[in-house]
Amino acid sequence: MTTSSVNPAVRRVEVSTSGASYPVLVGAGAADAVPDIVAGATSGRRVAVVSDSNVASLHADSIVEALVAGGMVATLHTFPAGEAFKVRKSWATLTDELLDAGVGRDACVVTVGGGVTTDLGGFVAATYMRGLPVVHVPTSSLAMIDAAVGGKTGVDTRAGKNLVGAFHAPRAVIADTDLLSTLPKAFYAEGLVEALKHGAIRSDAHFEAVRDGARGLLDGDGRGAASIVHDSVRIKADVVAADEFESGLREILNFGHTLGHAIESASDFAVGHGAAVAIGMVLEARLGERIGVTAEGTARRLTEALEPLDLPPADGLDLERVLAYLLTDKKVRGGRPRFVLLERIGAAAVDGGTAHDVPDEVVRTVLVEALN
Ligand SMILES: NC(=O)c1ccc[n+]([C@@H]2O[C@H](COP(=O)([O-])OP(=O)(O)OC[C@H]3O[C@@H](n4cnc5c(N)ncnc54)[C@H](O)[C@@H]3O)[C@@H](O)[C@H]2O)c1
Ligand SMILES: [Zn+2]
Repeated sequence: MTTSSVNPAVRRVEVSTSGASYPVLVGAGAADAVPDIVAGATSGRRVAVVSDSNVASLHADSIVEALVAGGMVATLHTFPAGEAFKVRKSWATLTDELLDAGVGRDACVVTVGGGVTTDLGGFVAATYMRGLPVVHVPTSSLAMIDAAVGGKTGVDTRAGKNLVGAFHAPRAVIADTDLLSTLPKAFYAEGLVEALKHGAIRSDAHFEAVRDGARGLLDGDGRGAASIVHDSVRIKADVVAADEFESGLREILNFGHTLGHAIESASDFAVGHGAAVAIGMVLEARLGERIGVTAEGTARRLTEALEPLDLPPADGLDLERVLAYLLTDKKVRGGRPRFVLLERIGAAAVDGGTAHDVPDEVVRTVLVEALN
């Protein structure tokens, strides 16, 4: 895998985990390397490309063509776009399709799409014939910055998001920032919330770079995109390398997510993930400020940094529903919600554990102030 040295615009971040280490290639034109990388990831020549109904014709078709031109036998397998289709039924349909198409144990799965595609396609790869290698080609800002990196795959269930899945590290992630040119701005902005989150938990400098670059990125600044995606991936890679299976440090990636998930659920997913996490980060910073863990002024800096993203307001949220959903969060221990708090922008508070208990009255007060 020497391709990153061929195209000087493409930079490489190595993600090291206990089982394996894999490269994330980031930059304009990175997808040119897909055939070479896939050839290196599989012993056979068979490739199953998984994409959604929007991205298939925009980007996956040309990747299939490039794979075929590179001597592979590649077929495209699509599912309807959207979170509503990140479910077991899509997994079943896709795996049946692969079986019908004669995809065997020596095949490789390539996902081309947003986080829904990398999660669902990754889960197909994790389970098909007990596991095929997977190469992710993320096409949304969120998938490049977050979803495609780290090895978590899965689907949603009636009881909640991401409740059925597997850890399955990719062989490589190829984040071609040119592909972002077709991404609708609203989705682009939601992905940048996770970039701000990476800055908030680990690097003040990255936080400021995202804040200052956001408007330009949304207006198509390709060079800026490559730099933000690269630095964001490096932060996630560092955290994942330190804690692959989320027993400790990796939890800091959930900053903003305890409240964010509750807001998403309480709105019946009318509020998108990024928009919900944006509110979650501000409110969790306020919680931290109230109990003296987080430096004063942190919530204000988060609010200011989020402004250029023009996220939709979360109107009409039912406070009691948000509180009810908080109690079903994955981090609930002994029936109490737990929060990742910041010490300040650039540093999560990790002394005495990554998740914090916050008194119910404080949670209620901060929510009442914010949502009323
Ligand atoms: N596995 C993880 O660690 C992890 C981390 C964060 C988020 N996620 C998951 O990621 C998902 C959200 O990802 P998302 O926001 O990318 O959603 P998505 O995959 O639904 O993509 C958003 C929309 O953009 C479209 N799209 C994607 N790329 C495009 C492009 N280049 N041009 C035009 N349209 C494009 C998609 O078709 C879709 O309509 C959630 O399911 C979330 O749970 C997973
Ligand atoms: Zn998230």
